[in-house]
Amino acid sequence: MAGDNVGRIETIGLTKRFKKVEAVRNLDLDIAQGEIYGLIGPDGAGKTTTIRMLAGVMKPTAGKASVSGFDTTRQAERLRHQVGYMAQRFSLYADLSVRENIEFYADIFGVRGAERNQQIERLLHFARLEEFQDRSAGLLSGGMKKKLGLACALIHRPRVLFLDEPTNGVDPISRREFWDILGDLHIAGVTIFVSTAYMDEAERCSRVGLMFQGHIICQGSPAELRHLVRGDLLALVTQDTVKAQAAVASLPGILEVQVYGDRLHLFVDNGSRRMPEIDAAVRSAGVQVGQVRQVQPQLEDAFISLISHQEMGSAGGENG
Ligand SMILES: Nc1ncnc2c1ncn2[C@@H]1O[C@H](COP(=O)(O)OP(=O)(O)OP(=O)(O)O)[C@@H](O)[C@H]1O
Ligand SMILES: [Mg+2]
Repeated sequence: MAGDNVGRIETIGLTKRFKKVEAVRNLDLDIAQGEIYGLIGPDGAGKTTTIRMLAGVMKPTAGKASVSGFDTTRQAERLRHQVGYMAQRFSLYADLSVRENIEFYADIFGVRGAERNQQIERLLHFARLEEFQDRSAGLLSGGMKKKLGLACALIHRPRVLFLDEPTNGVDPISRREFWDILGDLHIAGVTIFVSTAYMDEAERCSRVGLMFQGHIICQGSPAELRHLVRGDLLALVTQDTVKAQAAVASLPGILEVQVYGDRLHLFVDNGSRRMPEIDAAVRSAGVQVGQVRQVQPQLEDAFISLISHQEMGSAGGENG
């Protein structure tokens, strides 16, 4: 049944309705073995619901999905033994040690005999947790808890891994270390389907899908998504972003303004034409600014821009 489809994720019209919301709408996905597919989107976009259906722990209302050739509804039980799943709010046993937590998952997945110890040693090493194997899970740092969660999800050597915001709330150094481990899994050919709120992580995916109100509104490599941004992007640095924003708001050719700390990002129809006009407008409004520069849009710019257009569209009355 699995055969050539090992590691592949496919959905057709996958849909989940709860009483009040349609959390996932008509999702068509085709993810090849070995991809790192990143799902990004605002709170409530439907990321967790999608992952739950793919991991075989929640039934769709309509449509279907197969993972490694297993139907996620009809063969859910067998599927769960083929995939690794780290839930958004996964729980570890705080009173058990690192090693005992992994052993617990070994029991659940029936990993026995010589394979069991070998695999536990391998995972402790792989997740850089060897030194901490006897520490209670409850006493681990946030980053180490996430690595232990990952080790548990890998106990049965899954070929497909579902990770739901696995590094949420973790410091940047630990996030990077976590992603280095994912890089090793990627090299080993594991298909990784990961949701994240961090754009630097999305940049590390082979493909990214941007989800909004249950739909994937666009999908592609990080570079392809960056290029979806309309017009040119100008950046200006100022201590007074509020005043600067007011000064440029009604200028011609401005498509959109985003504020990042002490920076304004201005999407304009034509960068070289608008640069001197913007410069003059902010200076005559008495705003202290550095030089206005043209910059390359990052994934975050594209993401915010695409989402705000969708929001404007749905605020206009049309729903979905
Ligand atoms: N079990 C449930 N019963 C009813 N509604 C639900 C249930 N699970 C999710 N929802 C709703 O479905 C929508 C999508 O939720 P989901 O958790 O999939 O989003 P998400 O993208 O994972 O969000 P977040 O970034 O906050 O984790 C939301 O409107 C949510 O309130
Ligand atoms: Mg979620």
